[in-house]
Amino acid sequence: MIAVTDRTSAALPEPVRIALAQKVAGGKLELPVLPEVATRVVQLCNDEGADPRELAVVIRRDQAMAAHLMRLANSSLYAPITPLVSLDQVVSRLGMKKVREIALIISCQSKVFAVPGHEARLKVLFRHSLGAAAFAQEIARSRRWNVEEAFLAGLLHDLGRPVLIQAIVDLCRTEGLCPTETAMDVACDILHTRVGAELVKAWNLPVRLSEAVLWHHDPERSESARNLTMTTALADDLSHLVFGPKRLDEAAMRSHPLCAPLNMYPDEMESLLAKRDAIQKQVEALA
Ligand SMILES: [Fe+2]
Ligand SMILES: [Fe+2]
Repeated sequence: MIAVTDRTSAALPEPVRIALAQKVAGGKLELPVLPEVATRVVQLCNDEGADPRELAVVIRRDQAMAAHLMRLANSSLYAPITPLVSLDQVVSRLGMKKVREIALIISCQSKVFAVPGHEARLKVLFRHSLGAAAFAQEIARSRRWNVEEAFLAGLLHDLGRPVLIQAIVDLCRTEGLCPTETAMDVACDILHTRVGAELVKAWNLPVRLSEAVLWHHDPERSESARNLTMTTALADDLSHLVFGPKRLDEAAMRSHPLCAPLNMYPDEMESLLAKRDAIQKQVEALA
């Protein structure tokens, strides 16, 4: 049995706590399936020899995804200089990695951050994730690191939380019990990194992303993706500053312990903080 069960016992009803711990420890938690079209998009992005034109063909098979993708590609998040009017244009102007990014935003919003009865809570979580994605992208840009990878690490870092909320709701229903919000928060705080990393692996995304998700609260434990994990951790705190609940205030962000290992100078942190309003607008336009 995993050690975290002792802490969850303070909050979740015992039968739910035991069943949840067993499911997580045994890898038996039901993980959301990536929509077929998004799975294919991820496969194509993993294939170095893939033809970008095939991406548009694949997406066109799912009309709802295609329409949503067109909307997002034209949103302030991607801010095309001239409107993108076709899928072929989206693929050729934004590139395969950005298309994967948009397909994952759509899939996360519709398939993972969607627990009936908990919409308001999930909306806050989704905004936090998009905020972390946008900040991670800016941090990576300032370090001249891979911006698409950083965006995805931010987007996916707390993916375990909605999965756990759904699992707790289901287990409580089976037991005829009702979880408190605090109970769910405690369980999510303890288990979400592990569950999120499993989901990222199950979706066949690069291993560096699951590593960043697994260690985003403990970046020094990351062995093979330390910079990406530190980027995600800093972006997480920046997103909390903008979208709440606040963990560190602005002054504390200026002396954040990750600034030194990320080799980030005070003026670079100022530039990040100056992007707050723009990022807030981008995120609120999407969620
Ligand atoms: Fe987290
Ligand atoms: Fe977070």
